[in-house]
Amino acid sequence: MRAVTWQGKGRMSVEDVPDPWIQDPDDIVVRVTSSGLCGSDLHLYEPLAPFMEVGDVVGHEPIGVVEEVGRDVTSLRPGDRVVVPFNVSCGRCWMCAHGLHSQCETTQNVEQGTGASLFGYSKLYGQVPGAQAEYLRVPFADRLPIKVPDGPPDDRFVFLSDVLPTAWQAVEYAALQPGDTLLVLGAGPIGDMCARIALMRGIRVFVVDPVPERLQRVSAYGAEVLVTDSDADTVTTVLEVTRGRGADAVIDAVGMEAHGSPAAESMAKVVGLLPDRVAQPLMRRAGVDRLAALHLAIQAVRRGGTVSVVGVYGGPMDPMPLMEMFDKQVQLRMGQANVRRWSDDILALLLEPTDHLGVESFATHHLPLEEAPAAYHDFRAKNDGMVKVLFRP
Ligand SMILES: NC(=O)c1ccc[n+]([C@@H]2O[C@H](COP(=O)([O-])OP(=O)(O)OC[C@H]3O[C@@H](n4cnc5c(N)ncnc54)[C@H](O)[C@@H]3O)[C@@H](O)[C@H]2O)c1
Ligand SMILES: [Zn+2]
Ligand SMILES: [Zn+2]
Repeated sequence: MRAVTWQGKGRMSVEDVPDPWIQDPDDIVVRVTSSGLCGSDLHLYEPLAPFMEVGDVVGHEPIGVVEEVGRDVTSLRPGDRVVVPFNVSCGRCWMCAHGLHSQCETTQNVEQGTGASLFGYSKLYGQVPGAQAEYLRVPFADRLPIKVPDGPPDDRFVFLSDVLPTAWQAVEYAALQPGDTLLVLGAGPIGDMCARIALMRGIRVFVVDPVPERLQRVSAYGAEVLVTDSDADTVTTVLEVTRGRGADAVIDAVGMEAHGSPAAESMAKVVGLLPDRVAQPLMRRAGVDRLAALHLAIQAVRRGGTVSVVGVYGGPMDPMPLMEMFDKQVQLRMGQANVRRWSDDILALLLEPTDHLGVESFATHHLPLEEAPAAYHDFRAKNDGMVKVLFRP
């Protein structure tokens, strides 16, 4: 089959790789019909390169049709339509039973010190073949895939794999009441969807992002866009609109690709030049630590407010402004989304005739898999109004 593979720092290519097959009796093989390109994939492209191997198949946001089922699978049959969550979670361990699917104890990567395996996401997360491919092997088939009805276009359901539950969790973690103020940093797909979900819940939403067309998308849903020329200016503006108090919550939907931490950027460049053996521990400890957005979040939140971190950071963030956080009594919540914890609630919303969250017009580009290498480049460069890409393998 054809699949998007990692070939080196900043290099993806579409290659012929072996078709996946049923390895365990509770596996299925899914023929992928749409597969998203995520901001998290950009971390593999560069900062997480030391954890990648040439030929790794990437991608973790698929919808498709069940092609083959293992002999123990009872709830799915060939021809069923499914969305596959990005966490590889068993659905029956203690963590899964407590709604913490991204910490699944069956697939946790103990030797790496990380949580549940993820599709297409480096040695740190199990090196599981990913979903930007024609076919995908999916384990735990009676519990992991989300069965969705035939009929509506893929775009109606595909974001259940990642964008929707991730944004949903970020808003839940922000712990807001109707009428409260939320500042969303970053208007990529995740920040955008956080804003839409919060607006639907009657929250007043401000959004910051350096890319104007991304701001336009969220403002169409009623978010108030803050056009500022520096982080200091953003903080001043937030204080002005919140009577000097700060936002009740801030969602950091930027993560380690943040613009604006020059020291950290040069650090990442230095690490990038080292051999993997040396770079891996450095990446963990010193990390890429591009913390501009997180610092901004902490400055802009009100005292007693909540910072909800959904953007992914590498390294344990040594240079955190811990004293300021402590002094301000900030609640900080974060983590990979527990997709299956939220997916039933979200699916109910998606099954309504009205497209409340605008999912059917959410993707800006639908591209053949063969165009993936250029799409990675353009998505990172934010060329051509590209916000969300769905590949059609
Ligand atoms: N927690 C999870 O489960 C989960 C799931 C999916 C994605 N993510 C993470 O969420 C983050 C966003 O993902 P995405 O797909 O929207 O990616 P993206 O890269 O398209 O979006 C990031 C946005 O942040 C903006 N930005 C950069 N620096 C900024 C700054 N200093 N201030 C304000 N905005 C700034 C960029 O212009 C961009 O629009 C990534 O770190 C991704 O890895 C986390
Ligand atoms: Zn994703
Ligand atoms: Zn589990």
